[in-house]
Amino acid sequence: MGEIREEGFEAAYHICNITKEEEVVSLMDFAVKTYGALNIVIANAGIIRDGLMIQTDEEGKVKKIMSLSQFQSVLDVNLTGCFLTLREGAVRMVNNKWEGLLLIVSSINKTGQVGQLNYSSTKASVALWPKILSGEFHMKGIHHIRIVGIAPGYVATPILKNMNQKALDTILKDVHIQRLIEPEEITGLMKVAAENDALDATTLEITGGVLYGNRTIAK
Ligand SMILES: NC(=O)c1ccc[n+]([C@@H]2O[C@H](COP(=O)([O-])OP(=O)(O)OC[C@H]3O[C@@H](n4cnc5c(N)ncnc54)[C@H](O)[C@@H]3O)[C@@H](O)[C@H]2O)c1
Repeated sequence: MGEIREEGFEAAYHICNITKEEEVVSLMDFAVKTYGALNIVIANAGIIRDGLMIQTDEEGKVKKIMSLSQFQSVLDVNLTGCFLTLREGAVRMVNNKWEGLLLIVSSINKTGQVGQLNYSSTKASVALWPKILSGEFHMKGIHHIRIVGIAPGYVATPILKNMNQKALDTILKDVHIQRLIEPEEITGLMKVAAENDALDATTLEITGGVLYGNRTIAK
């Protein structure tokens, strides 16, 4: 936030666990109180807890399973948290007729990544939401809020530290631009989504040209 202010822009923060309904309500109220309106809501928070559903030993017997909490925790943040964020943003934008954008962060791994049963399930799901929600809004005559998803490839952010680094190196060999995407390249696309009213009801991929099939990226 300091960096944003140093650049001469305005910024404020409110700590919130997006899996908790009352905290998301309080975050949205804070935003409205601070800035007087809400025009862009980005459901960006996400986690990974990679692993295989069942892991076998040399004898072919199951030695490890994905625990319920390993599965559920990713759904809680990436799916329920995204739902609460968008819902609470939309309630305020609709009631006040504020024009704007709901932006959803999916992932290239919406196509089904081995080792990410939990994560890929959430990202495949939210990739559909722009279509579902814009249809819902259209049906109800709400035309002043667009919904756009973005599905990034591998971006140089801390989330990648939780991935198997050998698998990540292998994956990068099959990325056409031969490097991780920079966070600024993602925010650049978010800016385009905010500024271009023709973008709606769609999930855009920004992957640097990921060319691989599904690999195992579990620890
Ligand atoms: N980095 C990548 O390669 C990549 C690729 C595709 C999609 N994504 C998606 O981009 C989004 C941003 O990820 P990132 O790469 O910046 O990762 P990151 O780990 O750097 O940031 C994730 C953020 O989510 C926050 N968060 C986690 N759980 C939360 C909760 N319960 N309540 C509130 N905040 C919570 C964390 O505090 C962190 O600031 C995620 O949805 C992620 O799935 C990332």
